[in-house]
Amino acid sequence: MLVETHKLTKVYTSGLWRRTSFKALTDADICIEKGETVGIFGKSGSGKTTLANIIAGIMPATRGEVLFKDKPVKYPFRGSIRKAIQMVYQHPEEAFDPRWTLRHSLMEPYHIQKIPFEEDVFAEYLTKVGLYKEHLSRKPDTLSGGELQRAALARVMVMEPDLIILDEPTSMLDSISQAQLLSILRNYQKEHGNAYLFITHNLDVMNYLCSRCYFLETGKIVKKVNVYELP
Ligand SMILES: Nc1ncnc2c1ncn2[C@@H]1O[C@H](COP(=O)(O)OP(=O)(O)OP(=O)(O)O)[C@@H](O)[C@H]1O
Ligand SMILES: [Mg+2]
Repeated sequence: MLVETHKLTKVYTSGLWRRTSFKALTDADICIEKGETVGIFGKSGSGKTTLANIIAGIMPATRGEVLFKDKPVKYPFRGSIRKAIQMVYQHPEEAFDPRWTLRHSLMEPYHIQKIPFEEDVFAEYLTKVGLYKEHLSRKPDTLSGGELQRAALARVMVMEPDLIILDEPTSMLDSISQAQLLSILRNYQKEHGNAYLFITHNLDVMNYLCSRCYFLETGKIVKKVNVYELP
């Protein structure tokens, strides 16, 4: 199994002495096989991003564990898993530093992984997602939400991860760009054999991309379904 979670639970705490707490995720068990596309479906506030953030190593779970290739991984993630699991965030503007050009932001993972930055390789991925080399010299506030989302996707694709987590990647896009993005994702998977964890509100999108999905309701997985059983 590529990724498995066992009884993942997240309790957010806030306020004075962290006395206010809210359980956003309860005992979530999911699994993702190599090369598979798994969907997460649920109403707003059901805990989808919380689950995704824990699997991506962005924040720790309160209880439970994440297994990568059958071995438990500890937060903060170290070593090869940092490259192997990548996430495209729900709000792409949060993924880019507003002070930096896109070129600067996109170089960051190369610095972290100590790989020489090759602009030509990057330009190839930018073209794949429908952007141009010219975009590299721009700052995030000069790009549309959809363009930023695609730049974030290019940044992730270039790392050739085993799992890409996509948190509502089509919500900022018009229907033509949505269709383009879905076909980009499919083609990329055909070439690279990566898995996707795909979070969406859109059942048609889920149906198109995913082989199975999990339904989340108030932090609990209430159903695991084959997409053919979707309403
Ligand atoms: N840092 C936080 N502190 C306290 N509560 C939080 C925090 N982050 C999220 N929550 C709460 O946890 C619940 C789950 O949030 P989450 O963002 O995971 O939902 P979601 O399913 O991704 O929603 P959406 O579809 O709107 O993106 C929500 O009720 C949210 O208000
Ligand atoms: Mg969310």
